Amino acid sequence: MRLLVTGGCGFIGSNFIRLVLEEHSEDEVLNLDKLTYAGNPENLRDVEGDPRYSFQQGDICDADDVGKAFAWNPDMVINFAAETHVDRSITSPEDFVKTDVLGTYRLLEQVREMGVRFMQISTDEVYGSISEGSFSEESPLQPNSPYAASKAGADLLVRSYVRTYGIDAVIARSSNNYGPYQYPEKVIPLFVTNLLEGRRVPLYGEGRNIRDWLYVRDNCRGLDLVLRSGQSGEAYNVGAGQEKTNLELTRAILEIMGKGEESIQNVPDRLGHDLRYSVETSKIKALGWSPRMDFESGLQRTVQWYRDHAAWWEPIKSGEFRRYYAEKYGDI
Ligand code: NAD
Ligand code: TYD
Repeated sequence: MRLLVTGGCGFIGSNFIRLVLEEHSEDEVLNLDKLTYAGNPENLRDVEGDPRYSFQQGDICDADDVGKAFAWNPDMVINFAAETHVDRSITSPEDFVKTDVLGTYRLLEQVREMGVRFMQISTDEVYGSISEGSFSEESPLQPNSPYAASKAGADLLVRSYVRTYGIDAVIARSSNNYGPYQYPEKVIPLFVTNLLEGRRVPLYGEGRNIRDWLYVRDNCRGLDLVLRSGQSGEAYNVGAGQEKTNLELTRAILEIMGKGEESIQNVPDRLGHDLRYSVETSKIKALGWSPRMDFESGLQRTVQWYRDHAAWWEPIKSGEFRRYYAEKYGDI
């Protein structure tokens, strides 16, 4: 199989490419990535020399860049490329609408023309917040942040291209991922690296919001299964069933790192902050997937990875990120 992966230099995309190259010896991958602030070629340094892997720097919103990537003749296209940070979508939504909606549209146009299979990497955030119970794939899309709304827009475009043009496409909606190579603006790598730097951790509000933490390798195995066995026109939720409040998560990180509660700095809450995400996962389980990593082991392993890879995150935190961080969090 020839897989065109967009956004492969980001967190999940790079873990996915590594998994594909390891588990499918016959597959080849072309990675189309714009290399935004979140895209980092270091994430794939170890596979760069693999003859089955190639890279094209390009923008999924640009028809010429997309046309060039499709000229490679992929059998399947997997769209990870997106603006992904909720906080950035609140301060500057435009790039989210452009990449997450228009970019997906550009890919869909080529998919329609060339008749290849498409997988949209979506998120559980498209369903909005749920205080009890869990969303199924049939639940209405009720996104609350500009990030979630732009991802929901893309999902609806995919649906419409299946219904209208008969393209072959699946959608995967995963819960919060964590693990190696996650950009340190997201809560787990931010908190872990802050503690390694001797800083405090900025906890929004009272830390009562709940997320379901899915180890990235488990997610990538699920995505790979949906890609190869999912039914066209269908969406598949991917979740770990490991829900934690942000305060529970923070305390677990502090404990692993031998730090006390004085390292917590409560800061003003995020605007429109969704209380809880939770998805029902019987549909992907029926395909034969279940998560393998329990939260405690996954968190231990993740903390250790950031301890061992300061050479990966220190340049990020001392680059453009330093200004972003100072504007947002002050001297925390
Ligand atoms: P990320 O921010 O780490 O990486 C995004 C990647 O996309 C980067 O490499 C970036 O350079 C690239 N990119 C951005 N705009 C682009 C454009 N216009 N053209 C080409 N490339 C572009 O993101 P992530 O956390 O790895 O998330 C990947 C996907 O998974 C996203 O679609 C996201 O919505 C979805 N998702 C993420 C999570 C999570 O917990 N991180 C959970 C569910 C779903
Ligand atoms: P985040 O990692 O940004 O993922 P998402 O918003 O997509 O779920 O945030 C996870 C949770 O952590 C969310 O409830 C917001 C919270 N959070 C903090 O408390 N402090 C922070 O500095 C950040 C970035 C997030």
